[in-house]
Amino acid sequence: MQGLATESTDLAPVLTKSTGLAPVSTRFQSIKMADRSREQMLSMASMLVSLVDLRDCYTGGHSTRVAEYSHRIALEMGLGDEETEMLLLAASLHDVGKIGVPDHILLKPGRLTEDEFEYIKKHSEFGWMVLRTLQGFEEPSLVLLHHHERFDGGGYPGQLSGTRIPLGARIVAVGDAYDALTTNRPYRNGRSHEEAIAEIARCSKTQFDSNVVAAFIQSFR
Ligand SMILES: [Fe+2]
Repeated sequence: MQGLATESTDLAPVLTKSTGLAPVSTRFQSIKMADRSREQMLSMASMLVSLVDLRDCYTGGHSTRVAEYSHRIALEMGLGDEETEMLLLAASLHDVGKIGVPDHILLKPGRLTEDEFEYIKKHSEFGWMVLRTLQGFEEPSLVLLHHHERFDGGGYPGQLSGTRIPLGARIVAVGDAYDALTTNRPYRNGRSHEEAIAEIARCSKTQFDSNVVAAFIQSFR
């Protein structure tokens, strides 16, 4: 298991910065390290988190906040340490696939055309394609793939419904929506915490898993 500490400290500071969650010095020590190639894979994941941090200069820390909200839910739902670690990684990286979306679409200030929106929707598959190539990250890669699914099956890209959607993706979906609702956009002001919670509660069982919504609401009490 030589290299465990090294590998852990490679990724942990980046995630600390990204998620603001502490302590993280041991966060990734529970990930089983098989060999040198595994160490390289973690370095790659670390690099991806850094790229998301850079991208967040434009999005005002969206990924960081989604990771924080996901952490709240994970704690409330009593997820295990390793499951929580993978969730935080996936939440930090959930929009990494947007790197594959051209800036003239991603940063377009006006209304998107139907074709442009279809292109943006591909970001979940782009992210999945990148992360799934890293050994040991198959599970978080599925969170990236499915974080825009809806509980009623009306989301994308797989039109999965209910518990067929990976739990991590159901959690990130709630954190993602809350951040989108409460953040100022060029064309509208962000809603208050109370308004955002009311909107998420309204979409419980249709867009979101009601258990995840309940855990999120409970985490603020
Ligand atoms: Fe997304």
